[in-house]
Amino acid sequence: MDHFNYRDGSLHAEEVPLTRIAAEVGTPVYVYSTATLTRHFGLFRQALDWTDHLVCFAVKANSNIAVLKLLGDLGAGMDVVSGGEYARARAAGVPGGRIVFSGVGKTRAEMRQAIEGGIRQFNIESEPEMRALSDLAVSMGVQVPVAIRVNPDVDAKTHEKISTGKSENKFGIPIARAREVYAEAAALPGLKVVGIDVHIGSQLVDLEPFRHAYAKLGDLTRALRADGHQISRLDLGGGLGIPYRRDNNAPPLPIEYGQVIRETVGDLGCEIEIEPGRNIAGNAGVLLAQVVYLKEGEGRDFLIVDAAMNDLLRPSMYGAHHDIVPVTEPAPGAEVSPFDVVGPVCESGDTFQKGTQLSRLAAGDLVAFRSAGAYGAVMASEYNSRPLVPEVLVSGDHFAVIRARPTYEEMLARDTIPGWL
Ligand code: LLP
Repeated sequence: MDHFNYRDGSLHAEEVPLTRIAAEVGTPVYVYSTATLTRHFGLFRQALDWTDHLVCFAVKANSNIAVLKLLGDLGAGMDVVSGGEYARARAAGVPGGRIVFSGVGKTRAEMRQAIEGGIRQFNIESEPEMRALSDLAVSMGVQVPVAIRVNPDVDAKTHEKISTGKSENKFGIPIARAREVYAEAAALPGLKVVGIDVHIGSQLVDLEPFRHAYAKLGDLTRALRADGHQISRLDLGGGLGIPYRRDNNAPPLPIEYGQVIRETVGDLGCEIEIEPGRNIAGNAGVLLAQVVYLKEGEGRDFLIVDAAMNDLLRPSMYGAHHDIVPVTEPAPGAEVSPFDVVGPVCESGDTFQKGTQLSRLAAGDLVAFRSAGAYGAVMASEYNSRPLVPEVLVSGDHFAVIRARPTYEEMLARDTIPGWL
C-alpha cells in the first residue's frame, strides 16, 4: 500500500495534489511520500520483532539525505557501498554504529573513512580485501568488526543483471570455501569476526531462493561455531521484490519474509540484519512528468514526455515496467488507445513503454511513473545535458524540495576550460 491516490479526480501524494508540485517545482520531478516510507520501514521491523535485529536501509536505492534522515530517525541502520554513501548516511545523522559497509571494491581510503567515522561492520567480499582491511586497521591501531559475504550459489530467479548469489557472480566468497577463509580471517590481527553476510539478488518475487540461501547460512553458522568462531550476527541482505504492476501477482509481504528467516535461522540466537532498499522506497515514490507532444506515427502514436531515460533508467536498462498513470483521473469508461511513451533523449532506447493503453492525453497533461522511489533518482544522469532531476518529499499536506533542480549555470560551472585553450 502506498499513499499515492486519486482524490477529487486528481492524483495526490498523501494530501498534496501532484498538480501543485508540478506548478511550483516544475517537471520532471521525483515525489516521495513520508507516510509510505515510514510504513514500509515499520513492516520490516515488525517482521523481525521476534528477535534482536537491525533493518539497514540499502542506501543505493535512494540516497537523498532527507530520506536517509527520515529512516534513520525511525531507527534504521544503513547499508552503504561507497565512501559517498557512507558520507550521506553520516550527514543524515545516522551513527557509524548503525552503518554496514558492503561492496566488492572498497578502497583503502573508503575503509579508513568508515573506521574513522565509526562502523558497525564491514561486509568483506574477498580474501585480498580482508587482508587489506586488516593491514589498514593494524596501522590505525584498531580491530574492526567484519562479516564475510558468502556466495551460496542459489538462483534468485530474478533479472540476470540484479542476480548476485550464483557462483558465476562477482560477489562474496564461495560458500564451499567459507571455513578456510574464516580461519584466515580469525588469524588476521586487524579483524574481529562477528558474523556472516549474504545477499542473493534484487526484486525477488518468490521466497524459496531466500529459504534455500538462509538454510545454507544456518548450516554454515553451525559449522563455523564448531570451528571456534563466534558468529553472533547474520546479515541476510536485501532483495524482497515489490509489485510493479497493479495486478494480483503481488510478491510476498515482509511479514512472510520474516517468517522464512525465523524458520531457517531463527534458532541460532544470532542478531539479524537485513538490507532492504527497493521494498522500503520503491512504491514510496513517483516520477512526475508532463506530456510535451502527442505525435502521430505510422501504426502507433507517441506520447513524448519531458522525463527521459537519464531521469529513470530502469526501463531502458532492464526492460523494467513502471505503471504510467494520468494525474487527472480518467472518467470511468473513458476511451483508451495504445501509445508508445517516450522521452526526448536522442536514442530509441529512451522508451518507457510500448503500446500502453492510455486515455487520450494532450500536451501539457501530467503523468506519473509509479514505483519510482527506488533506483530512480539515484541512477539518474545528466545525459543530453539535461539537469539532474529534482526530488520532493511530501508529508501530510505539505512538501519540501529535498534536491533542487540545478540551473544551467550550476550545471556548467562544474566544467572548467584549461588556461591553454
Ligand atoms: N544489499 C546488497 C549487498 C545489495 O547489493 C543490494 C542491491 C541490496 C542490499 C538492496 O536490494 P533491494 O532490497 O533493493 O532489492 N538497479 C537495480 C537494482 C540493483 C540492486 C543491487 N543491489 C534496479 O533498478 O532494479
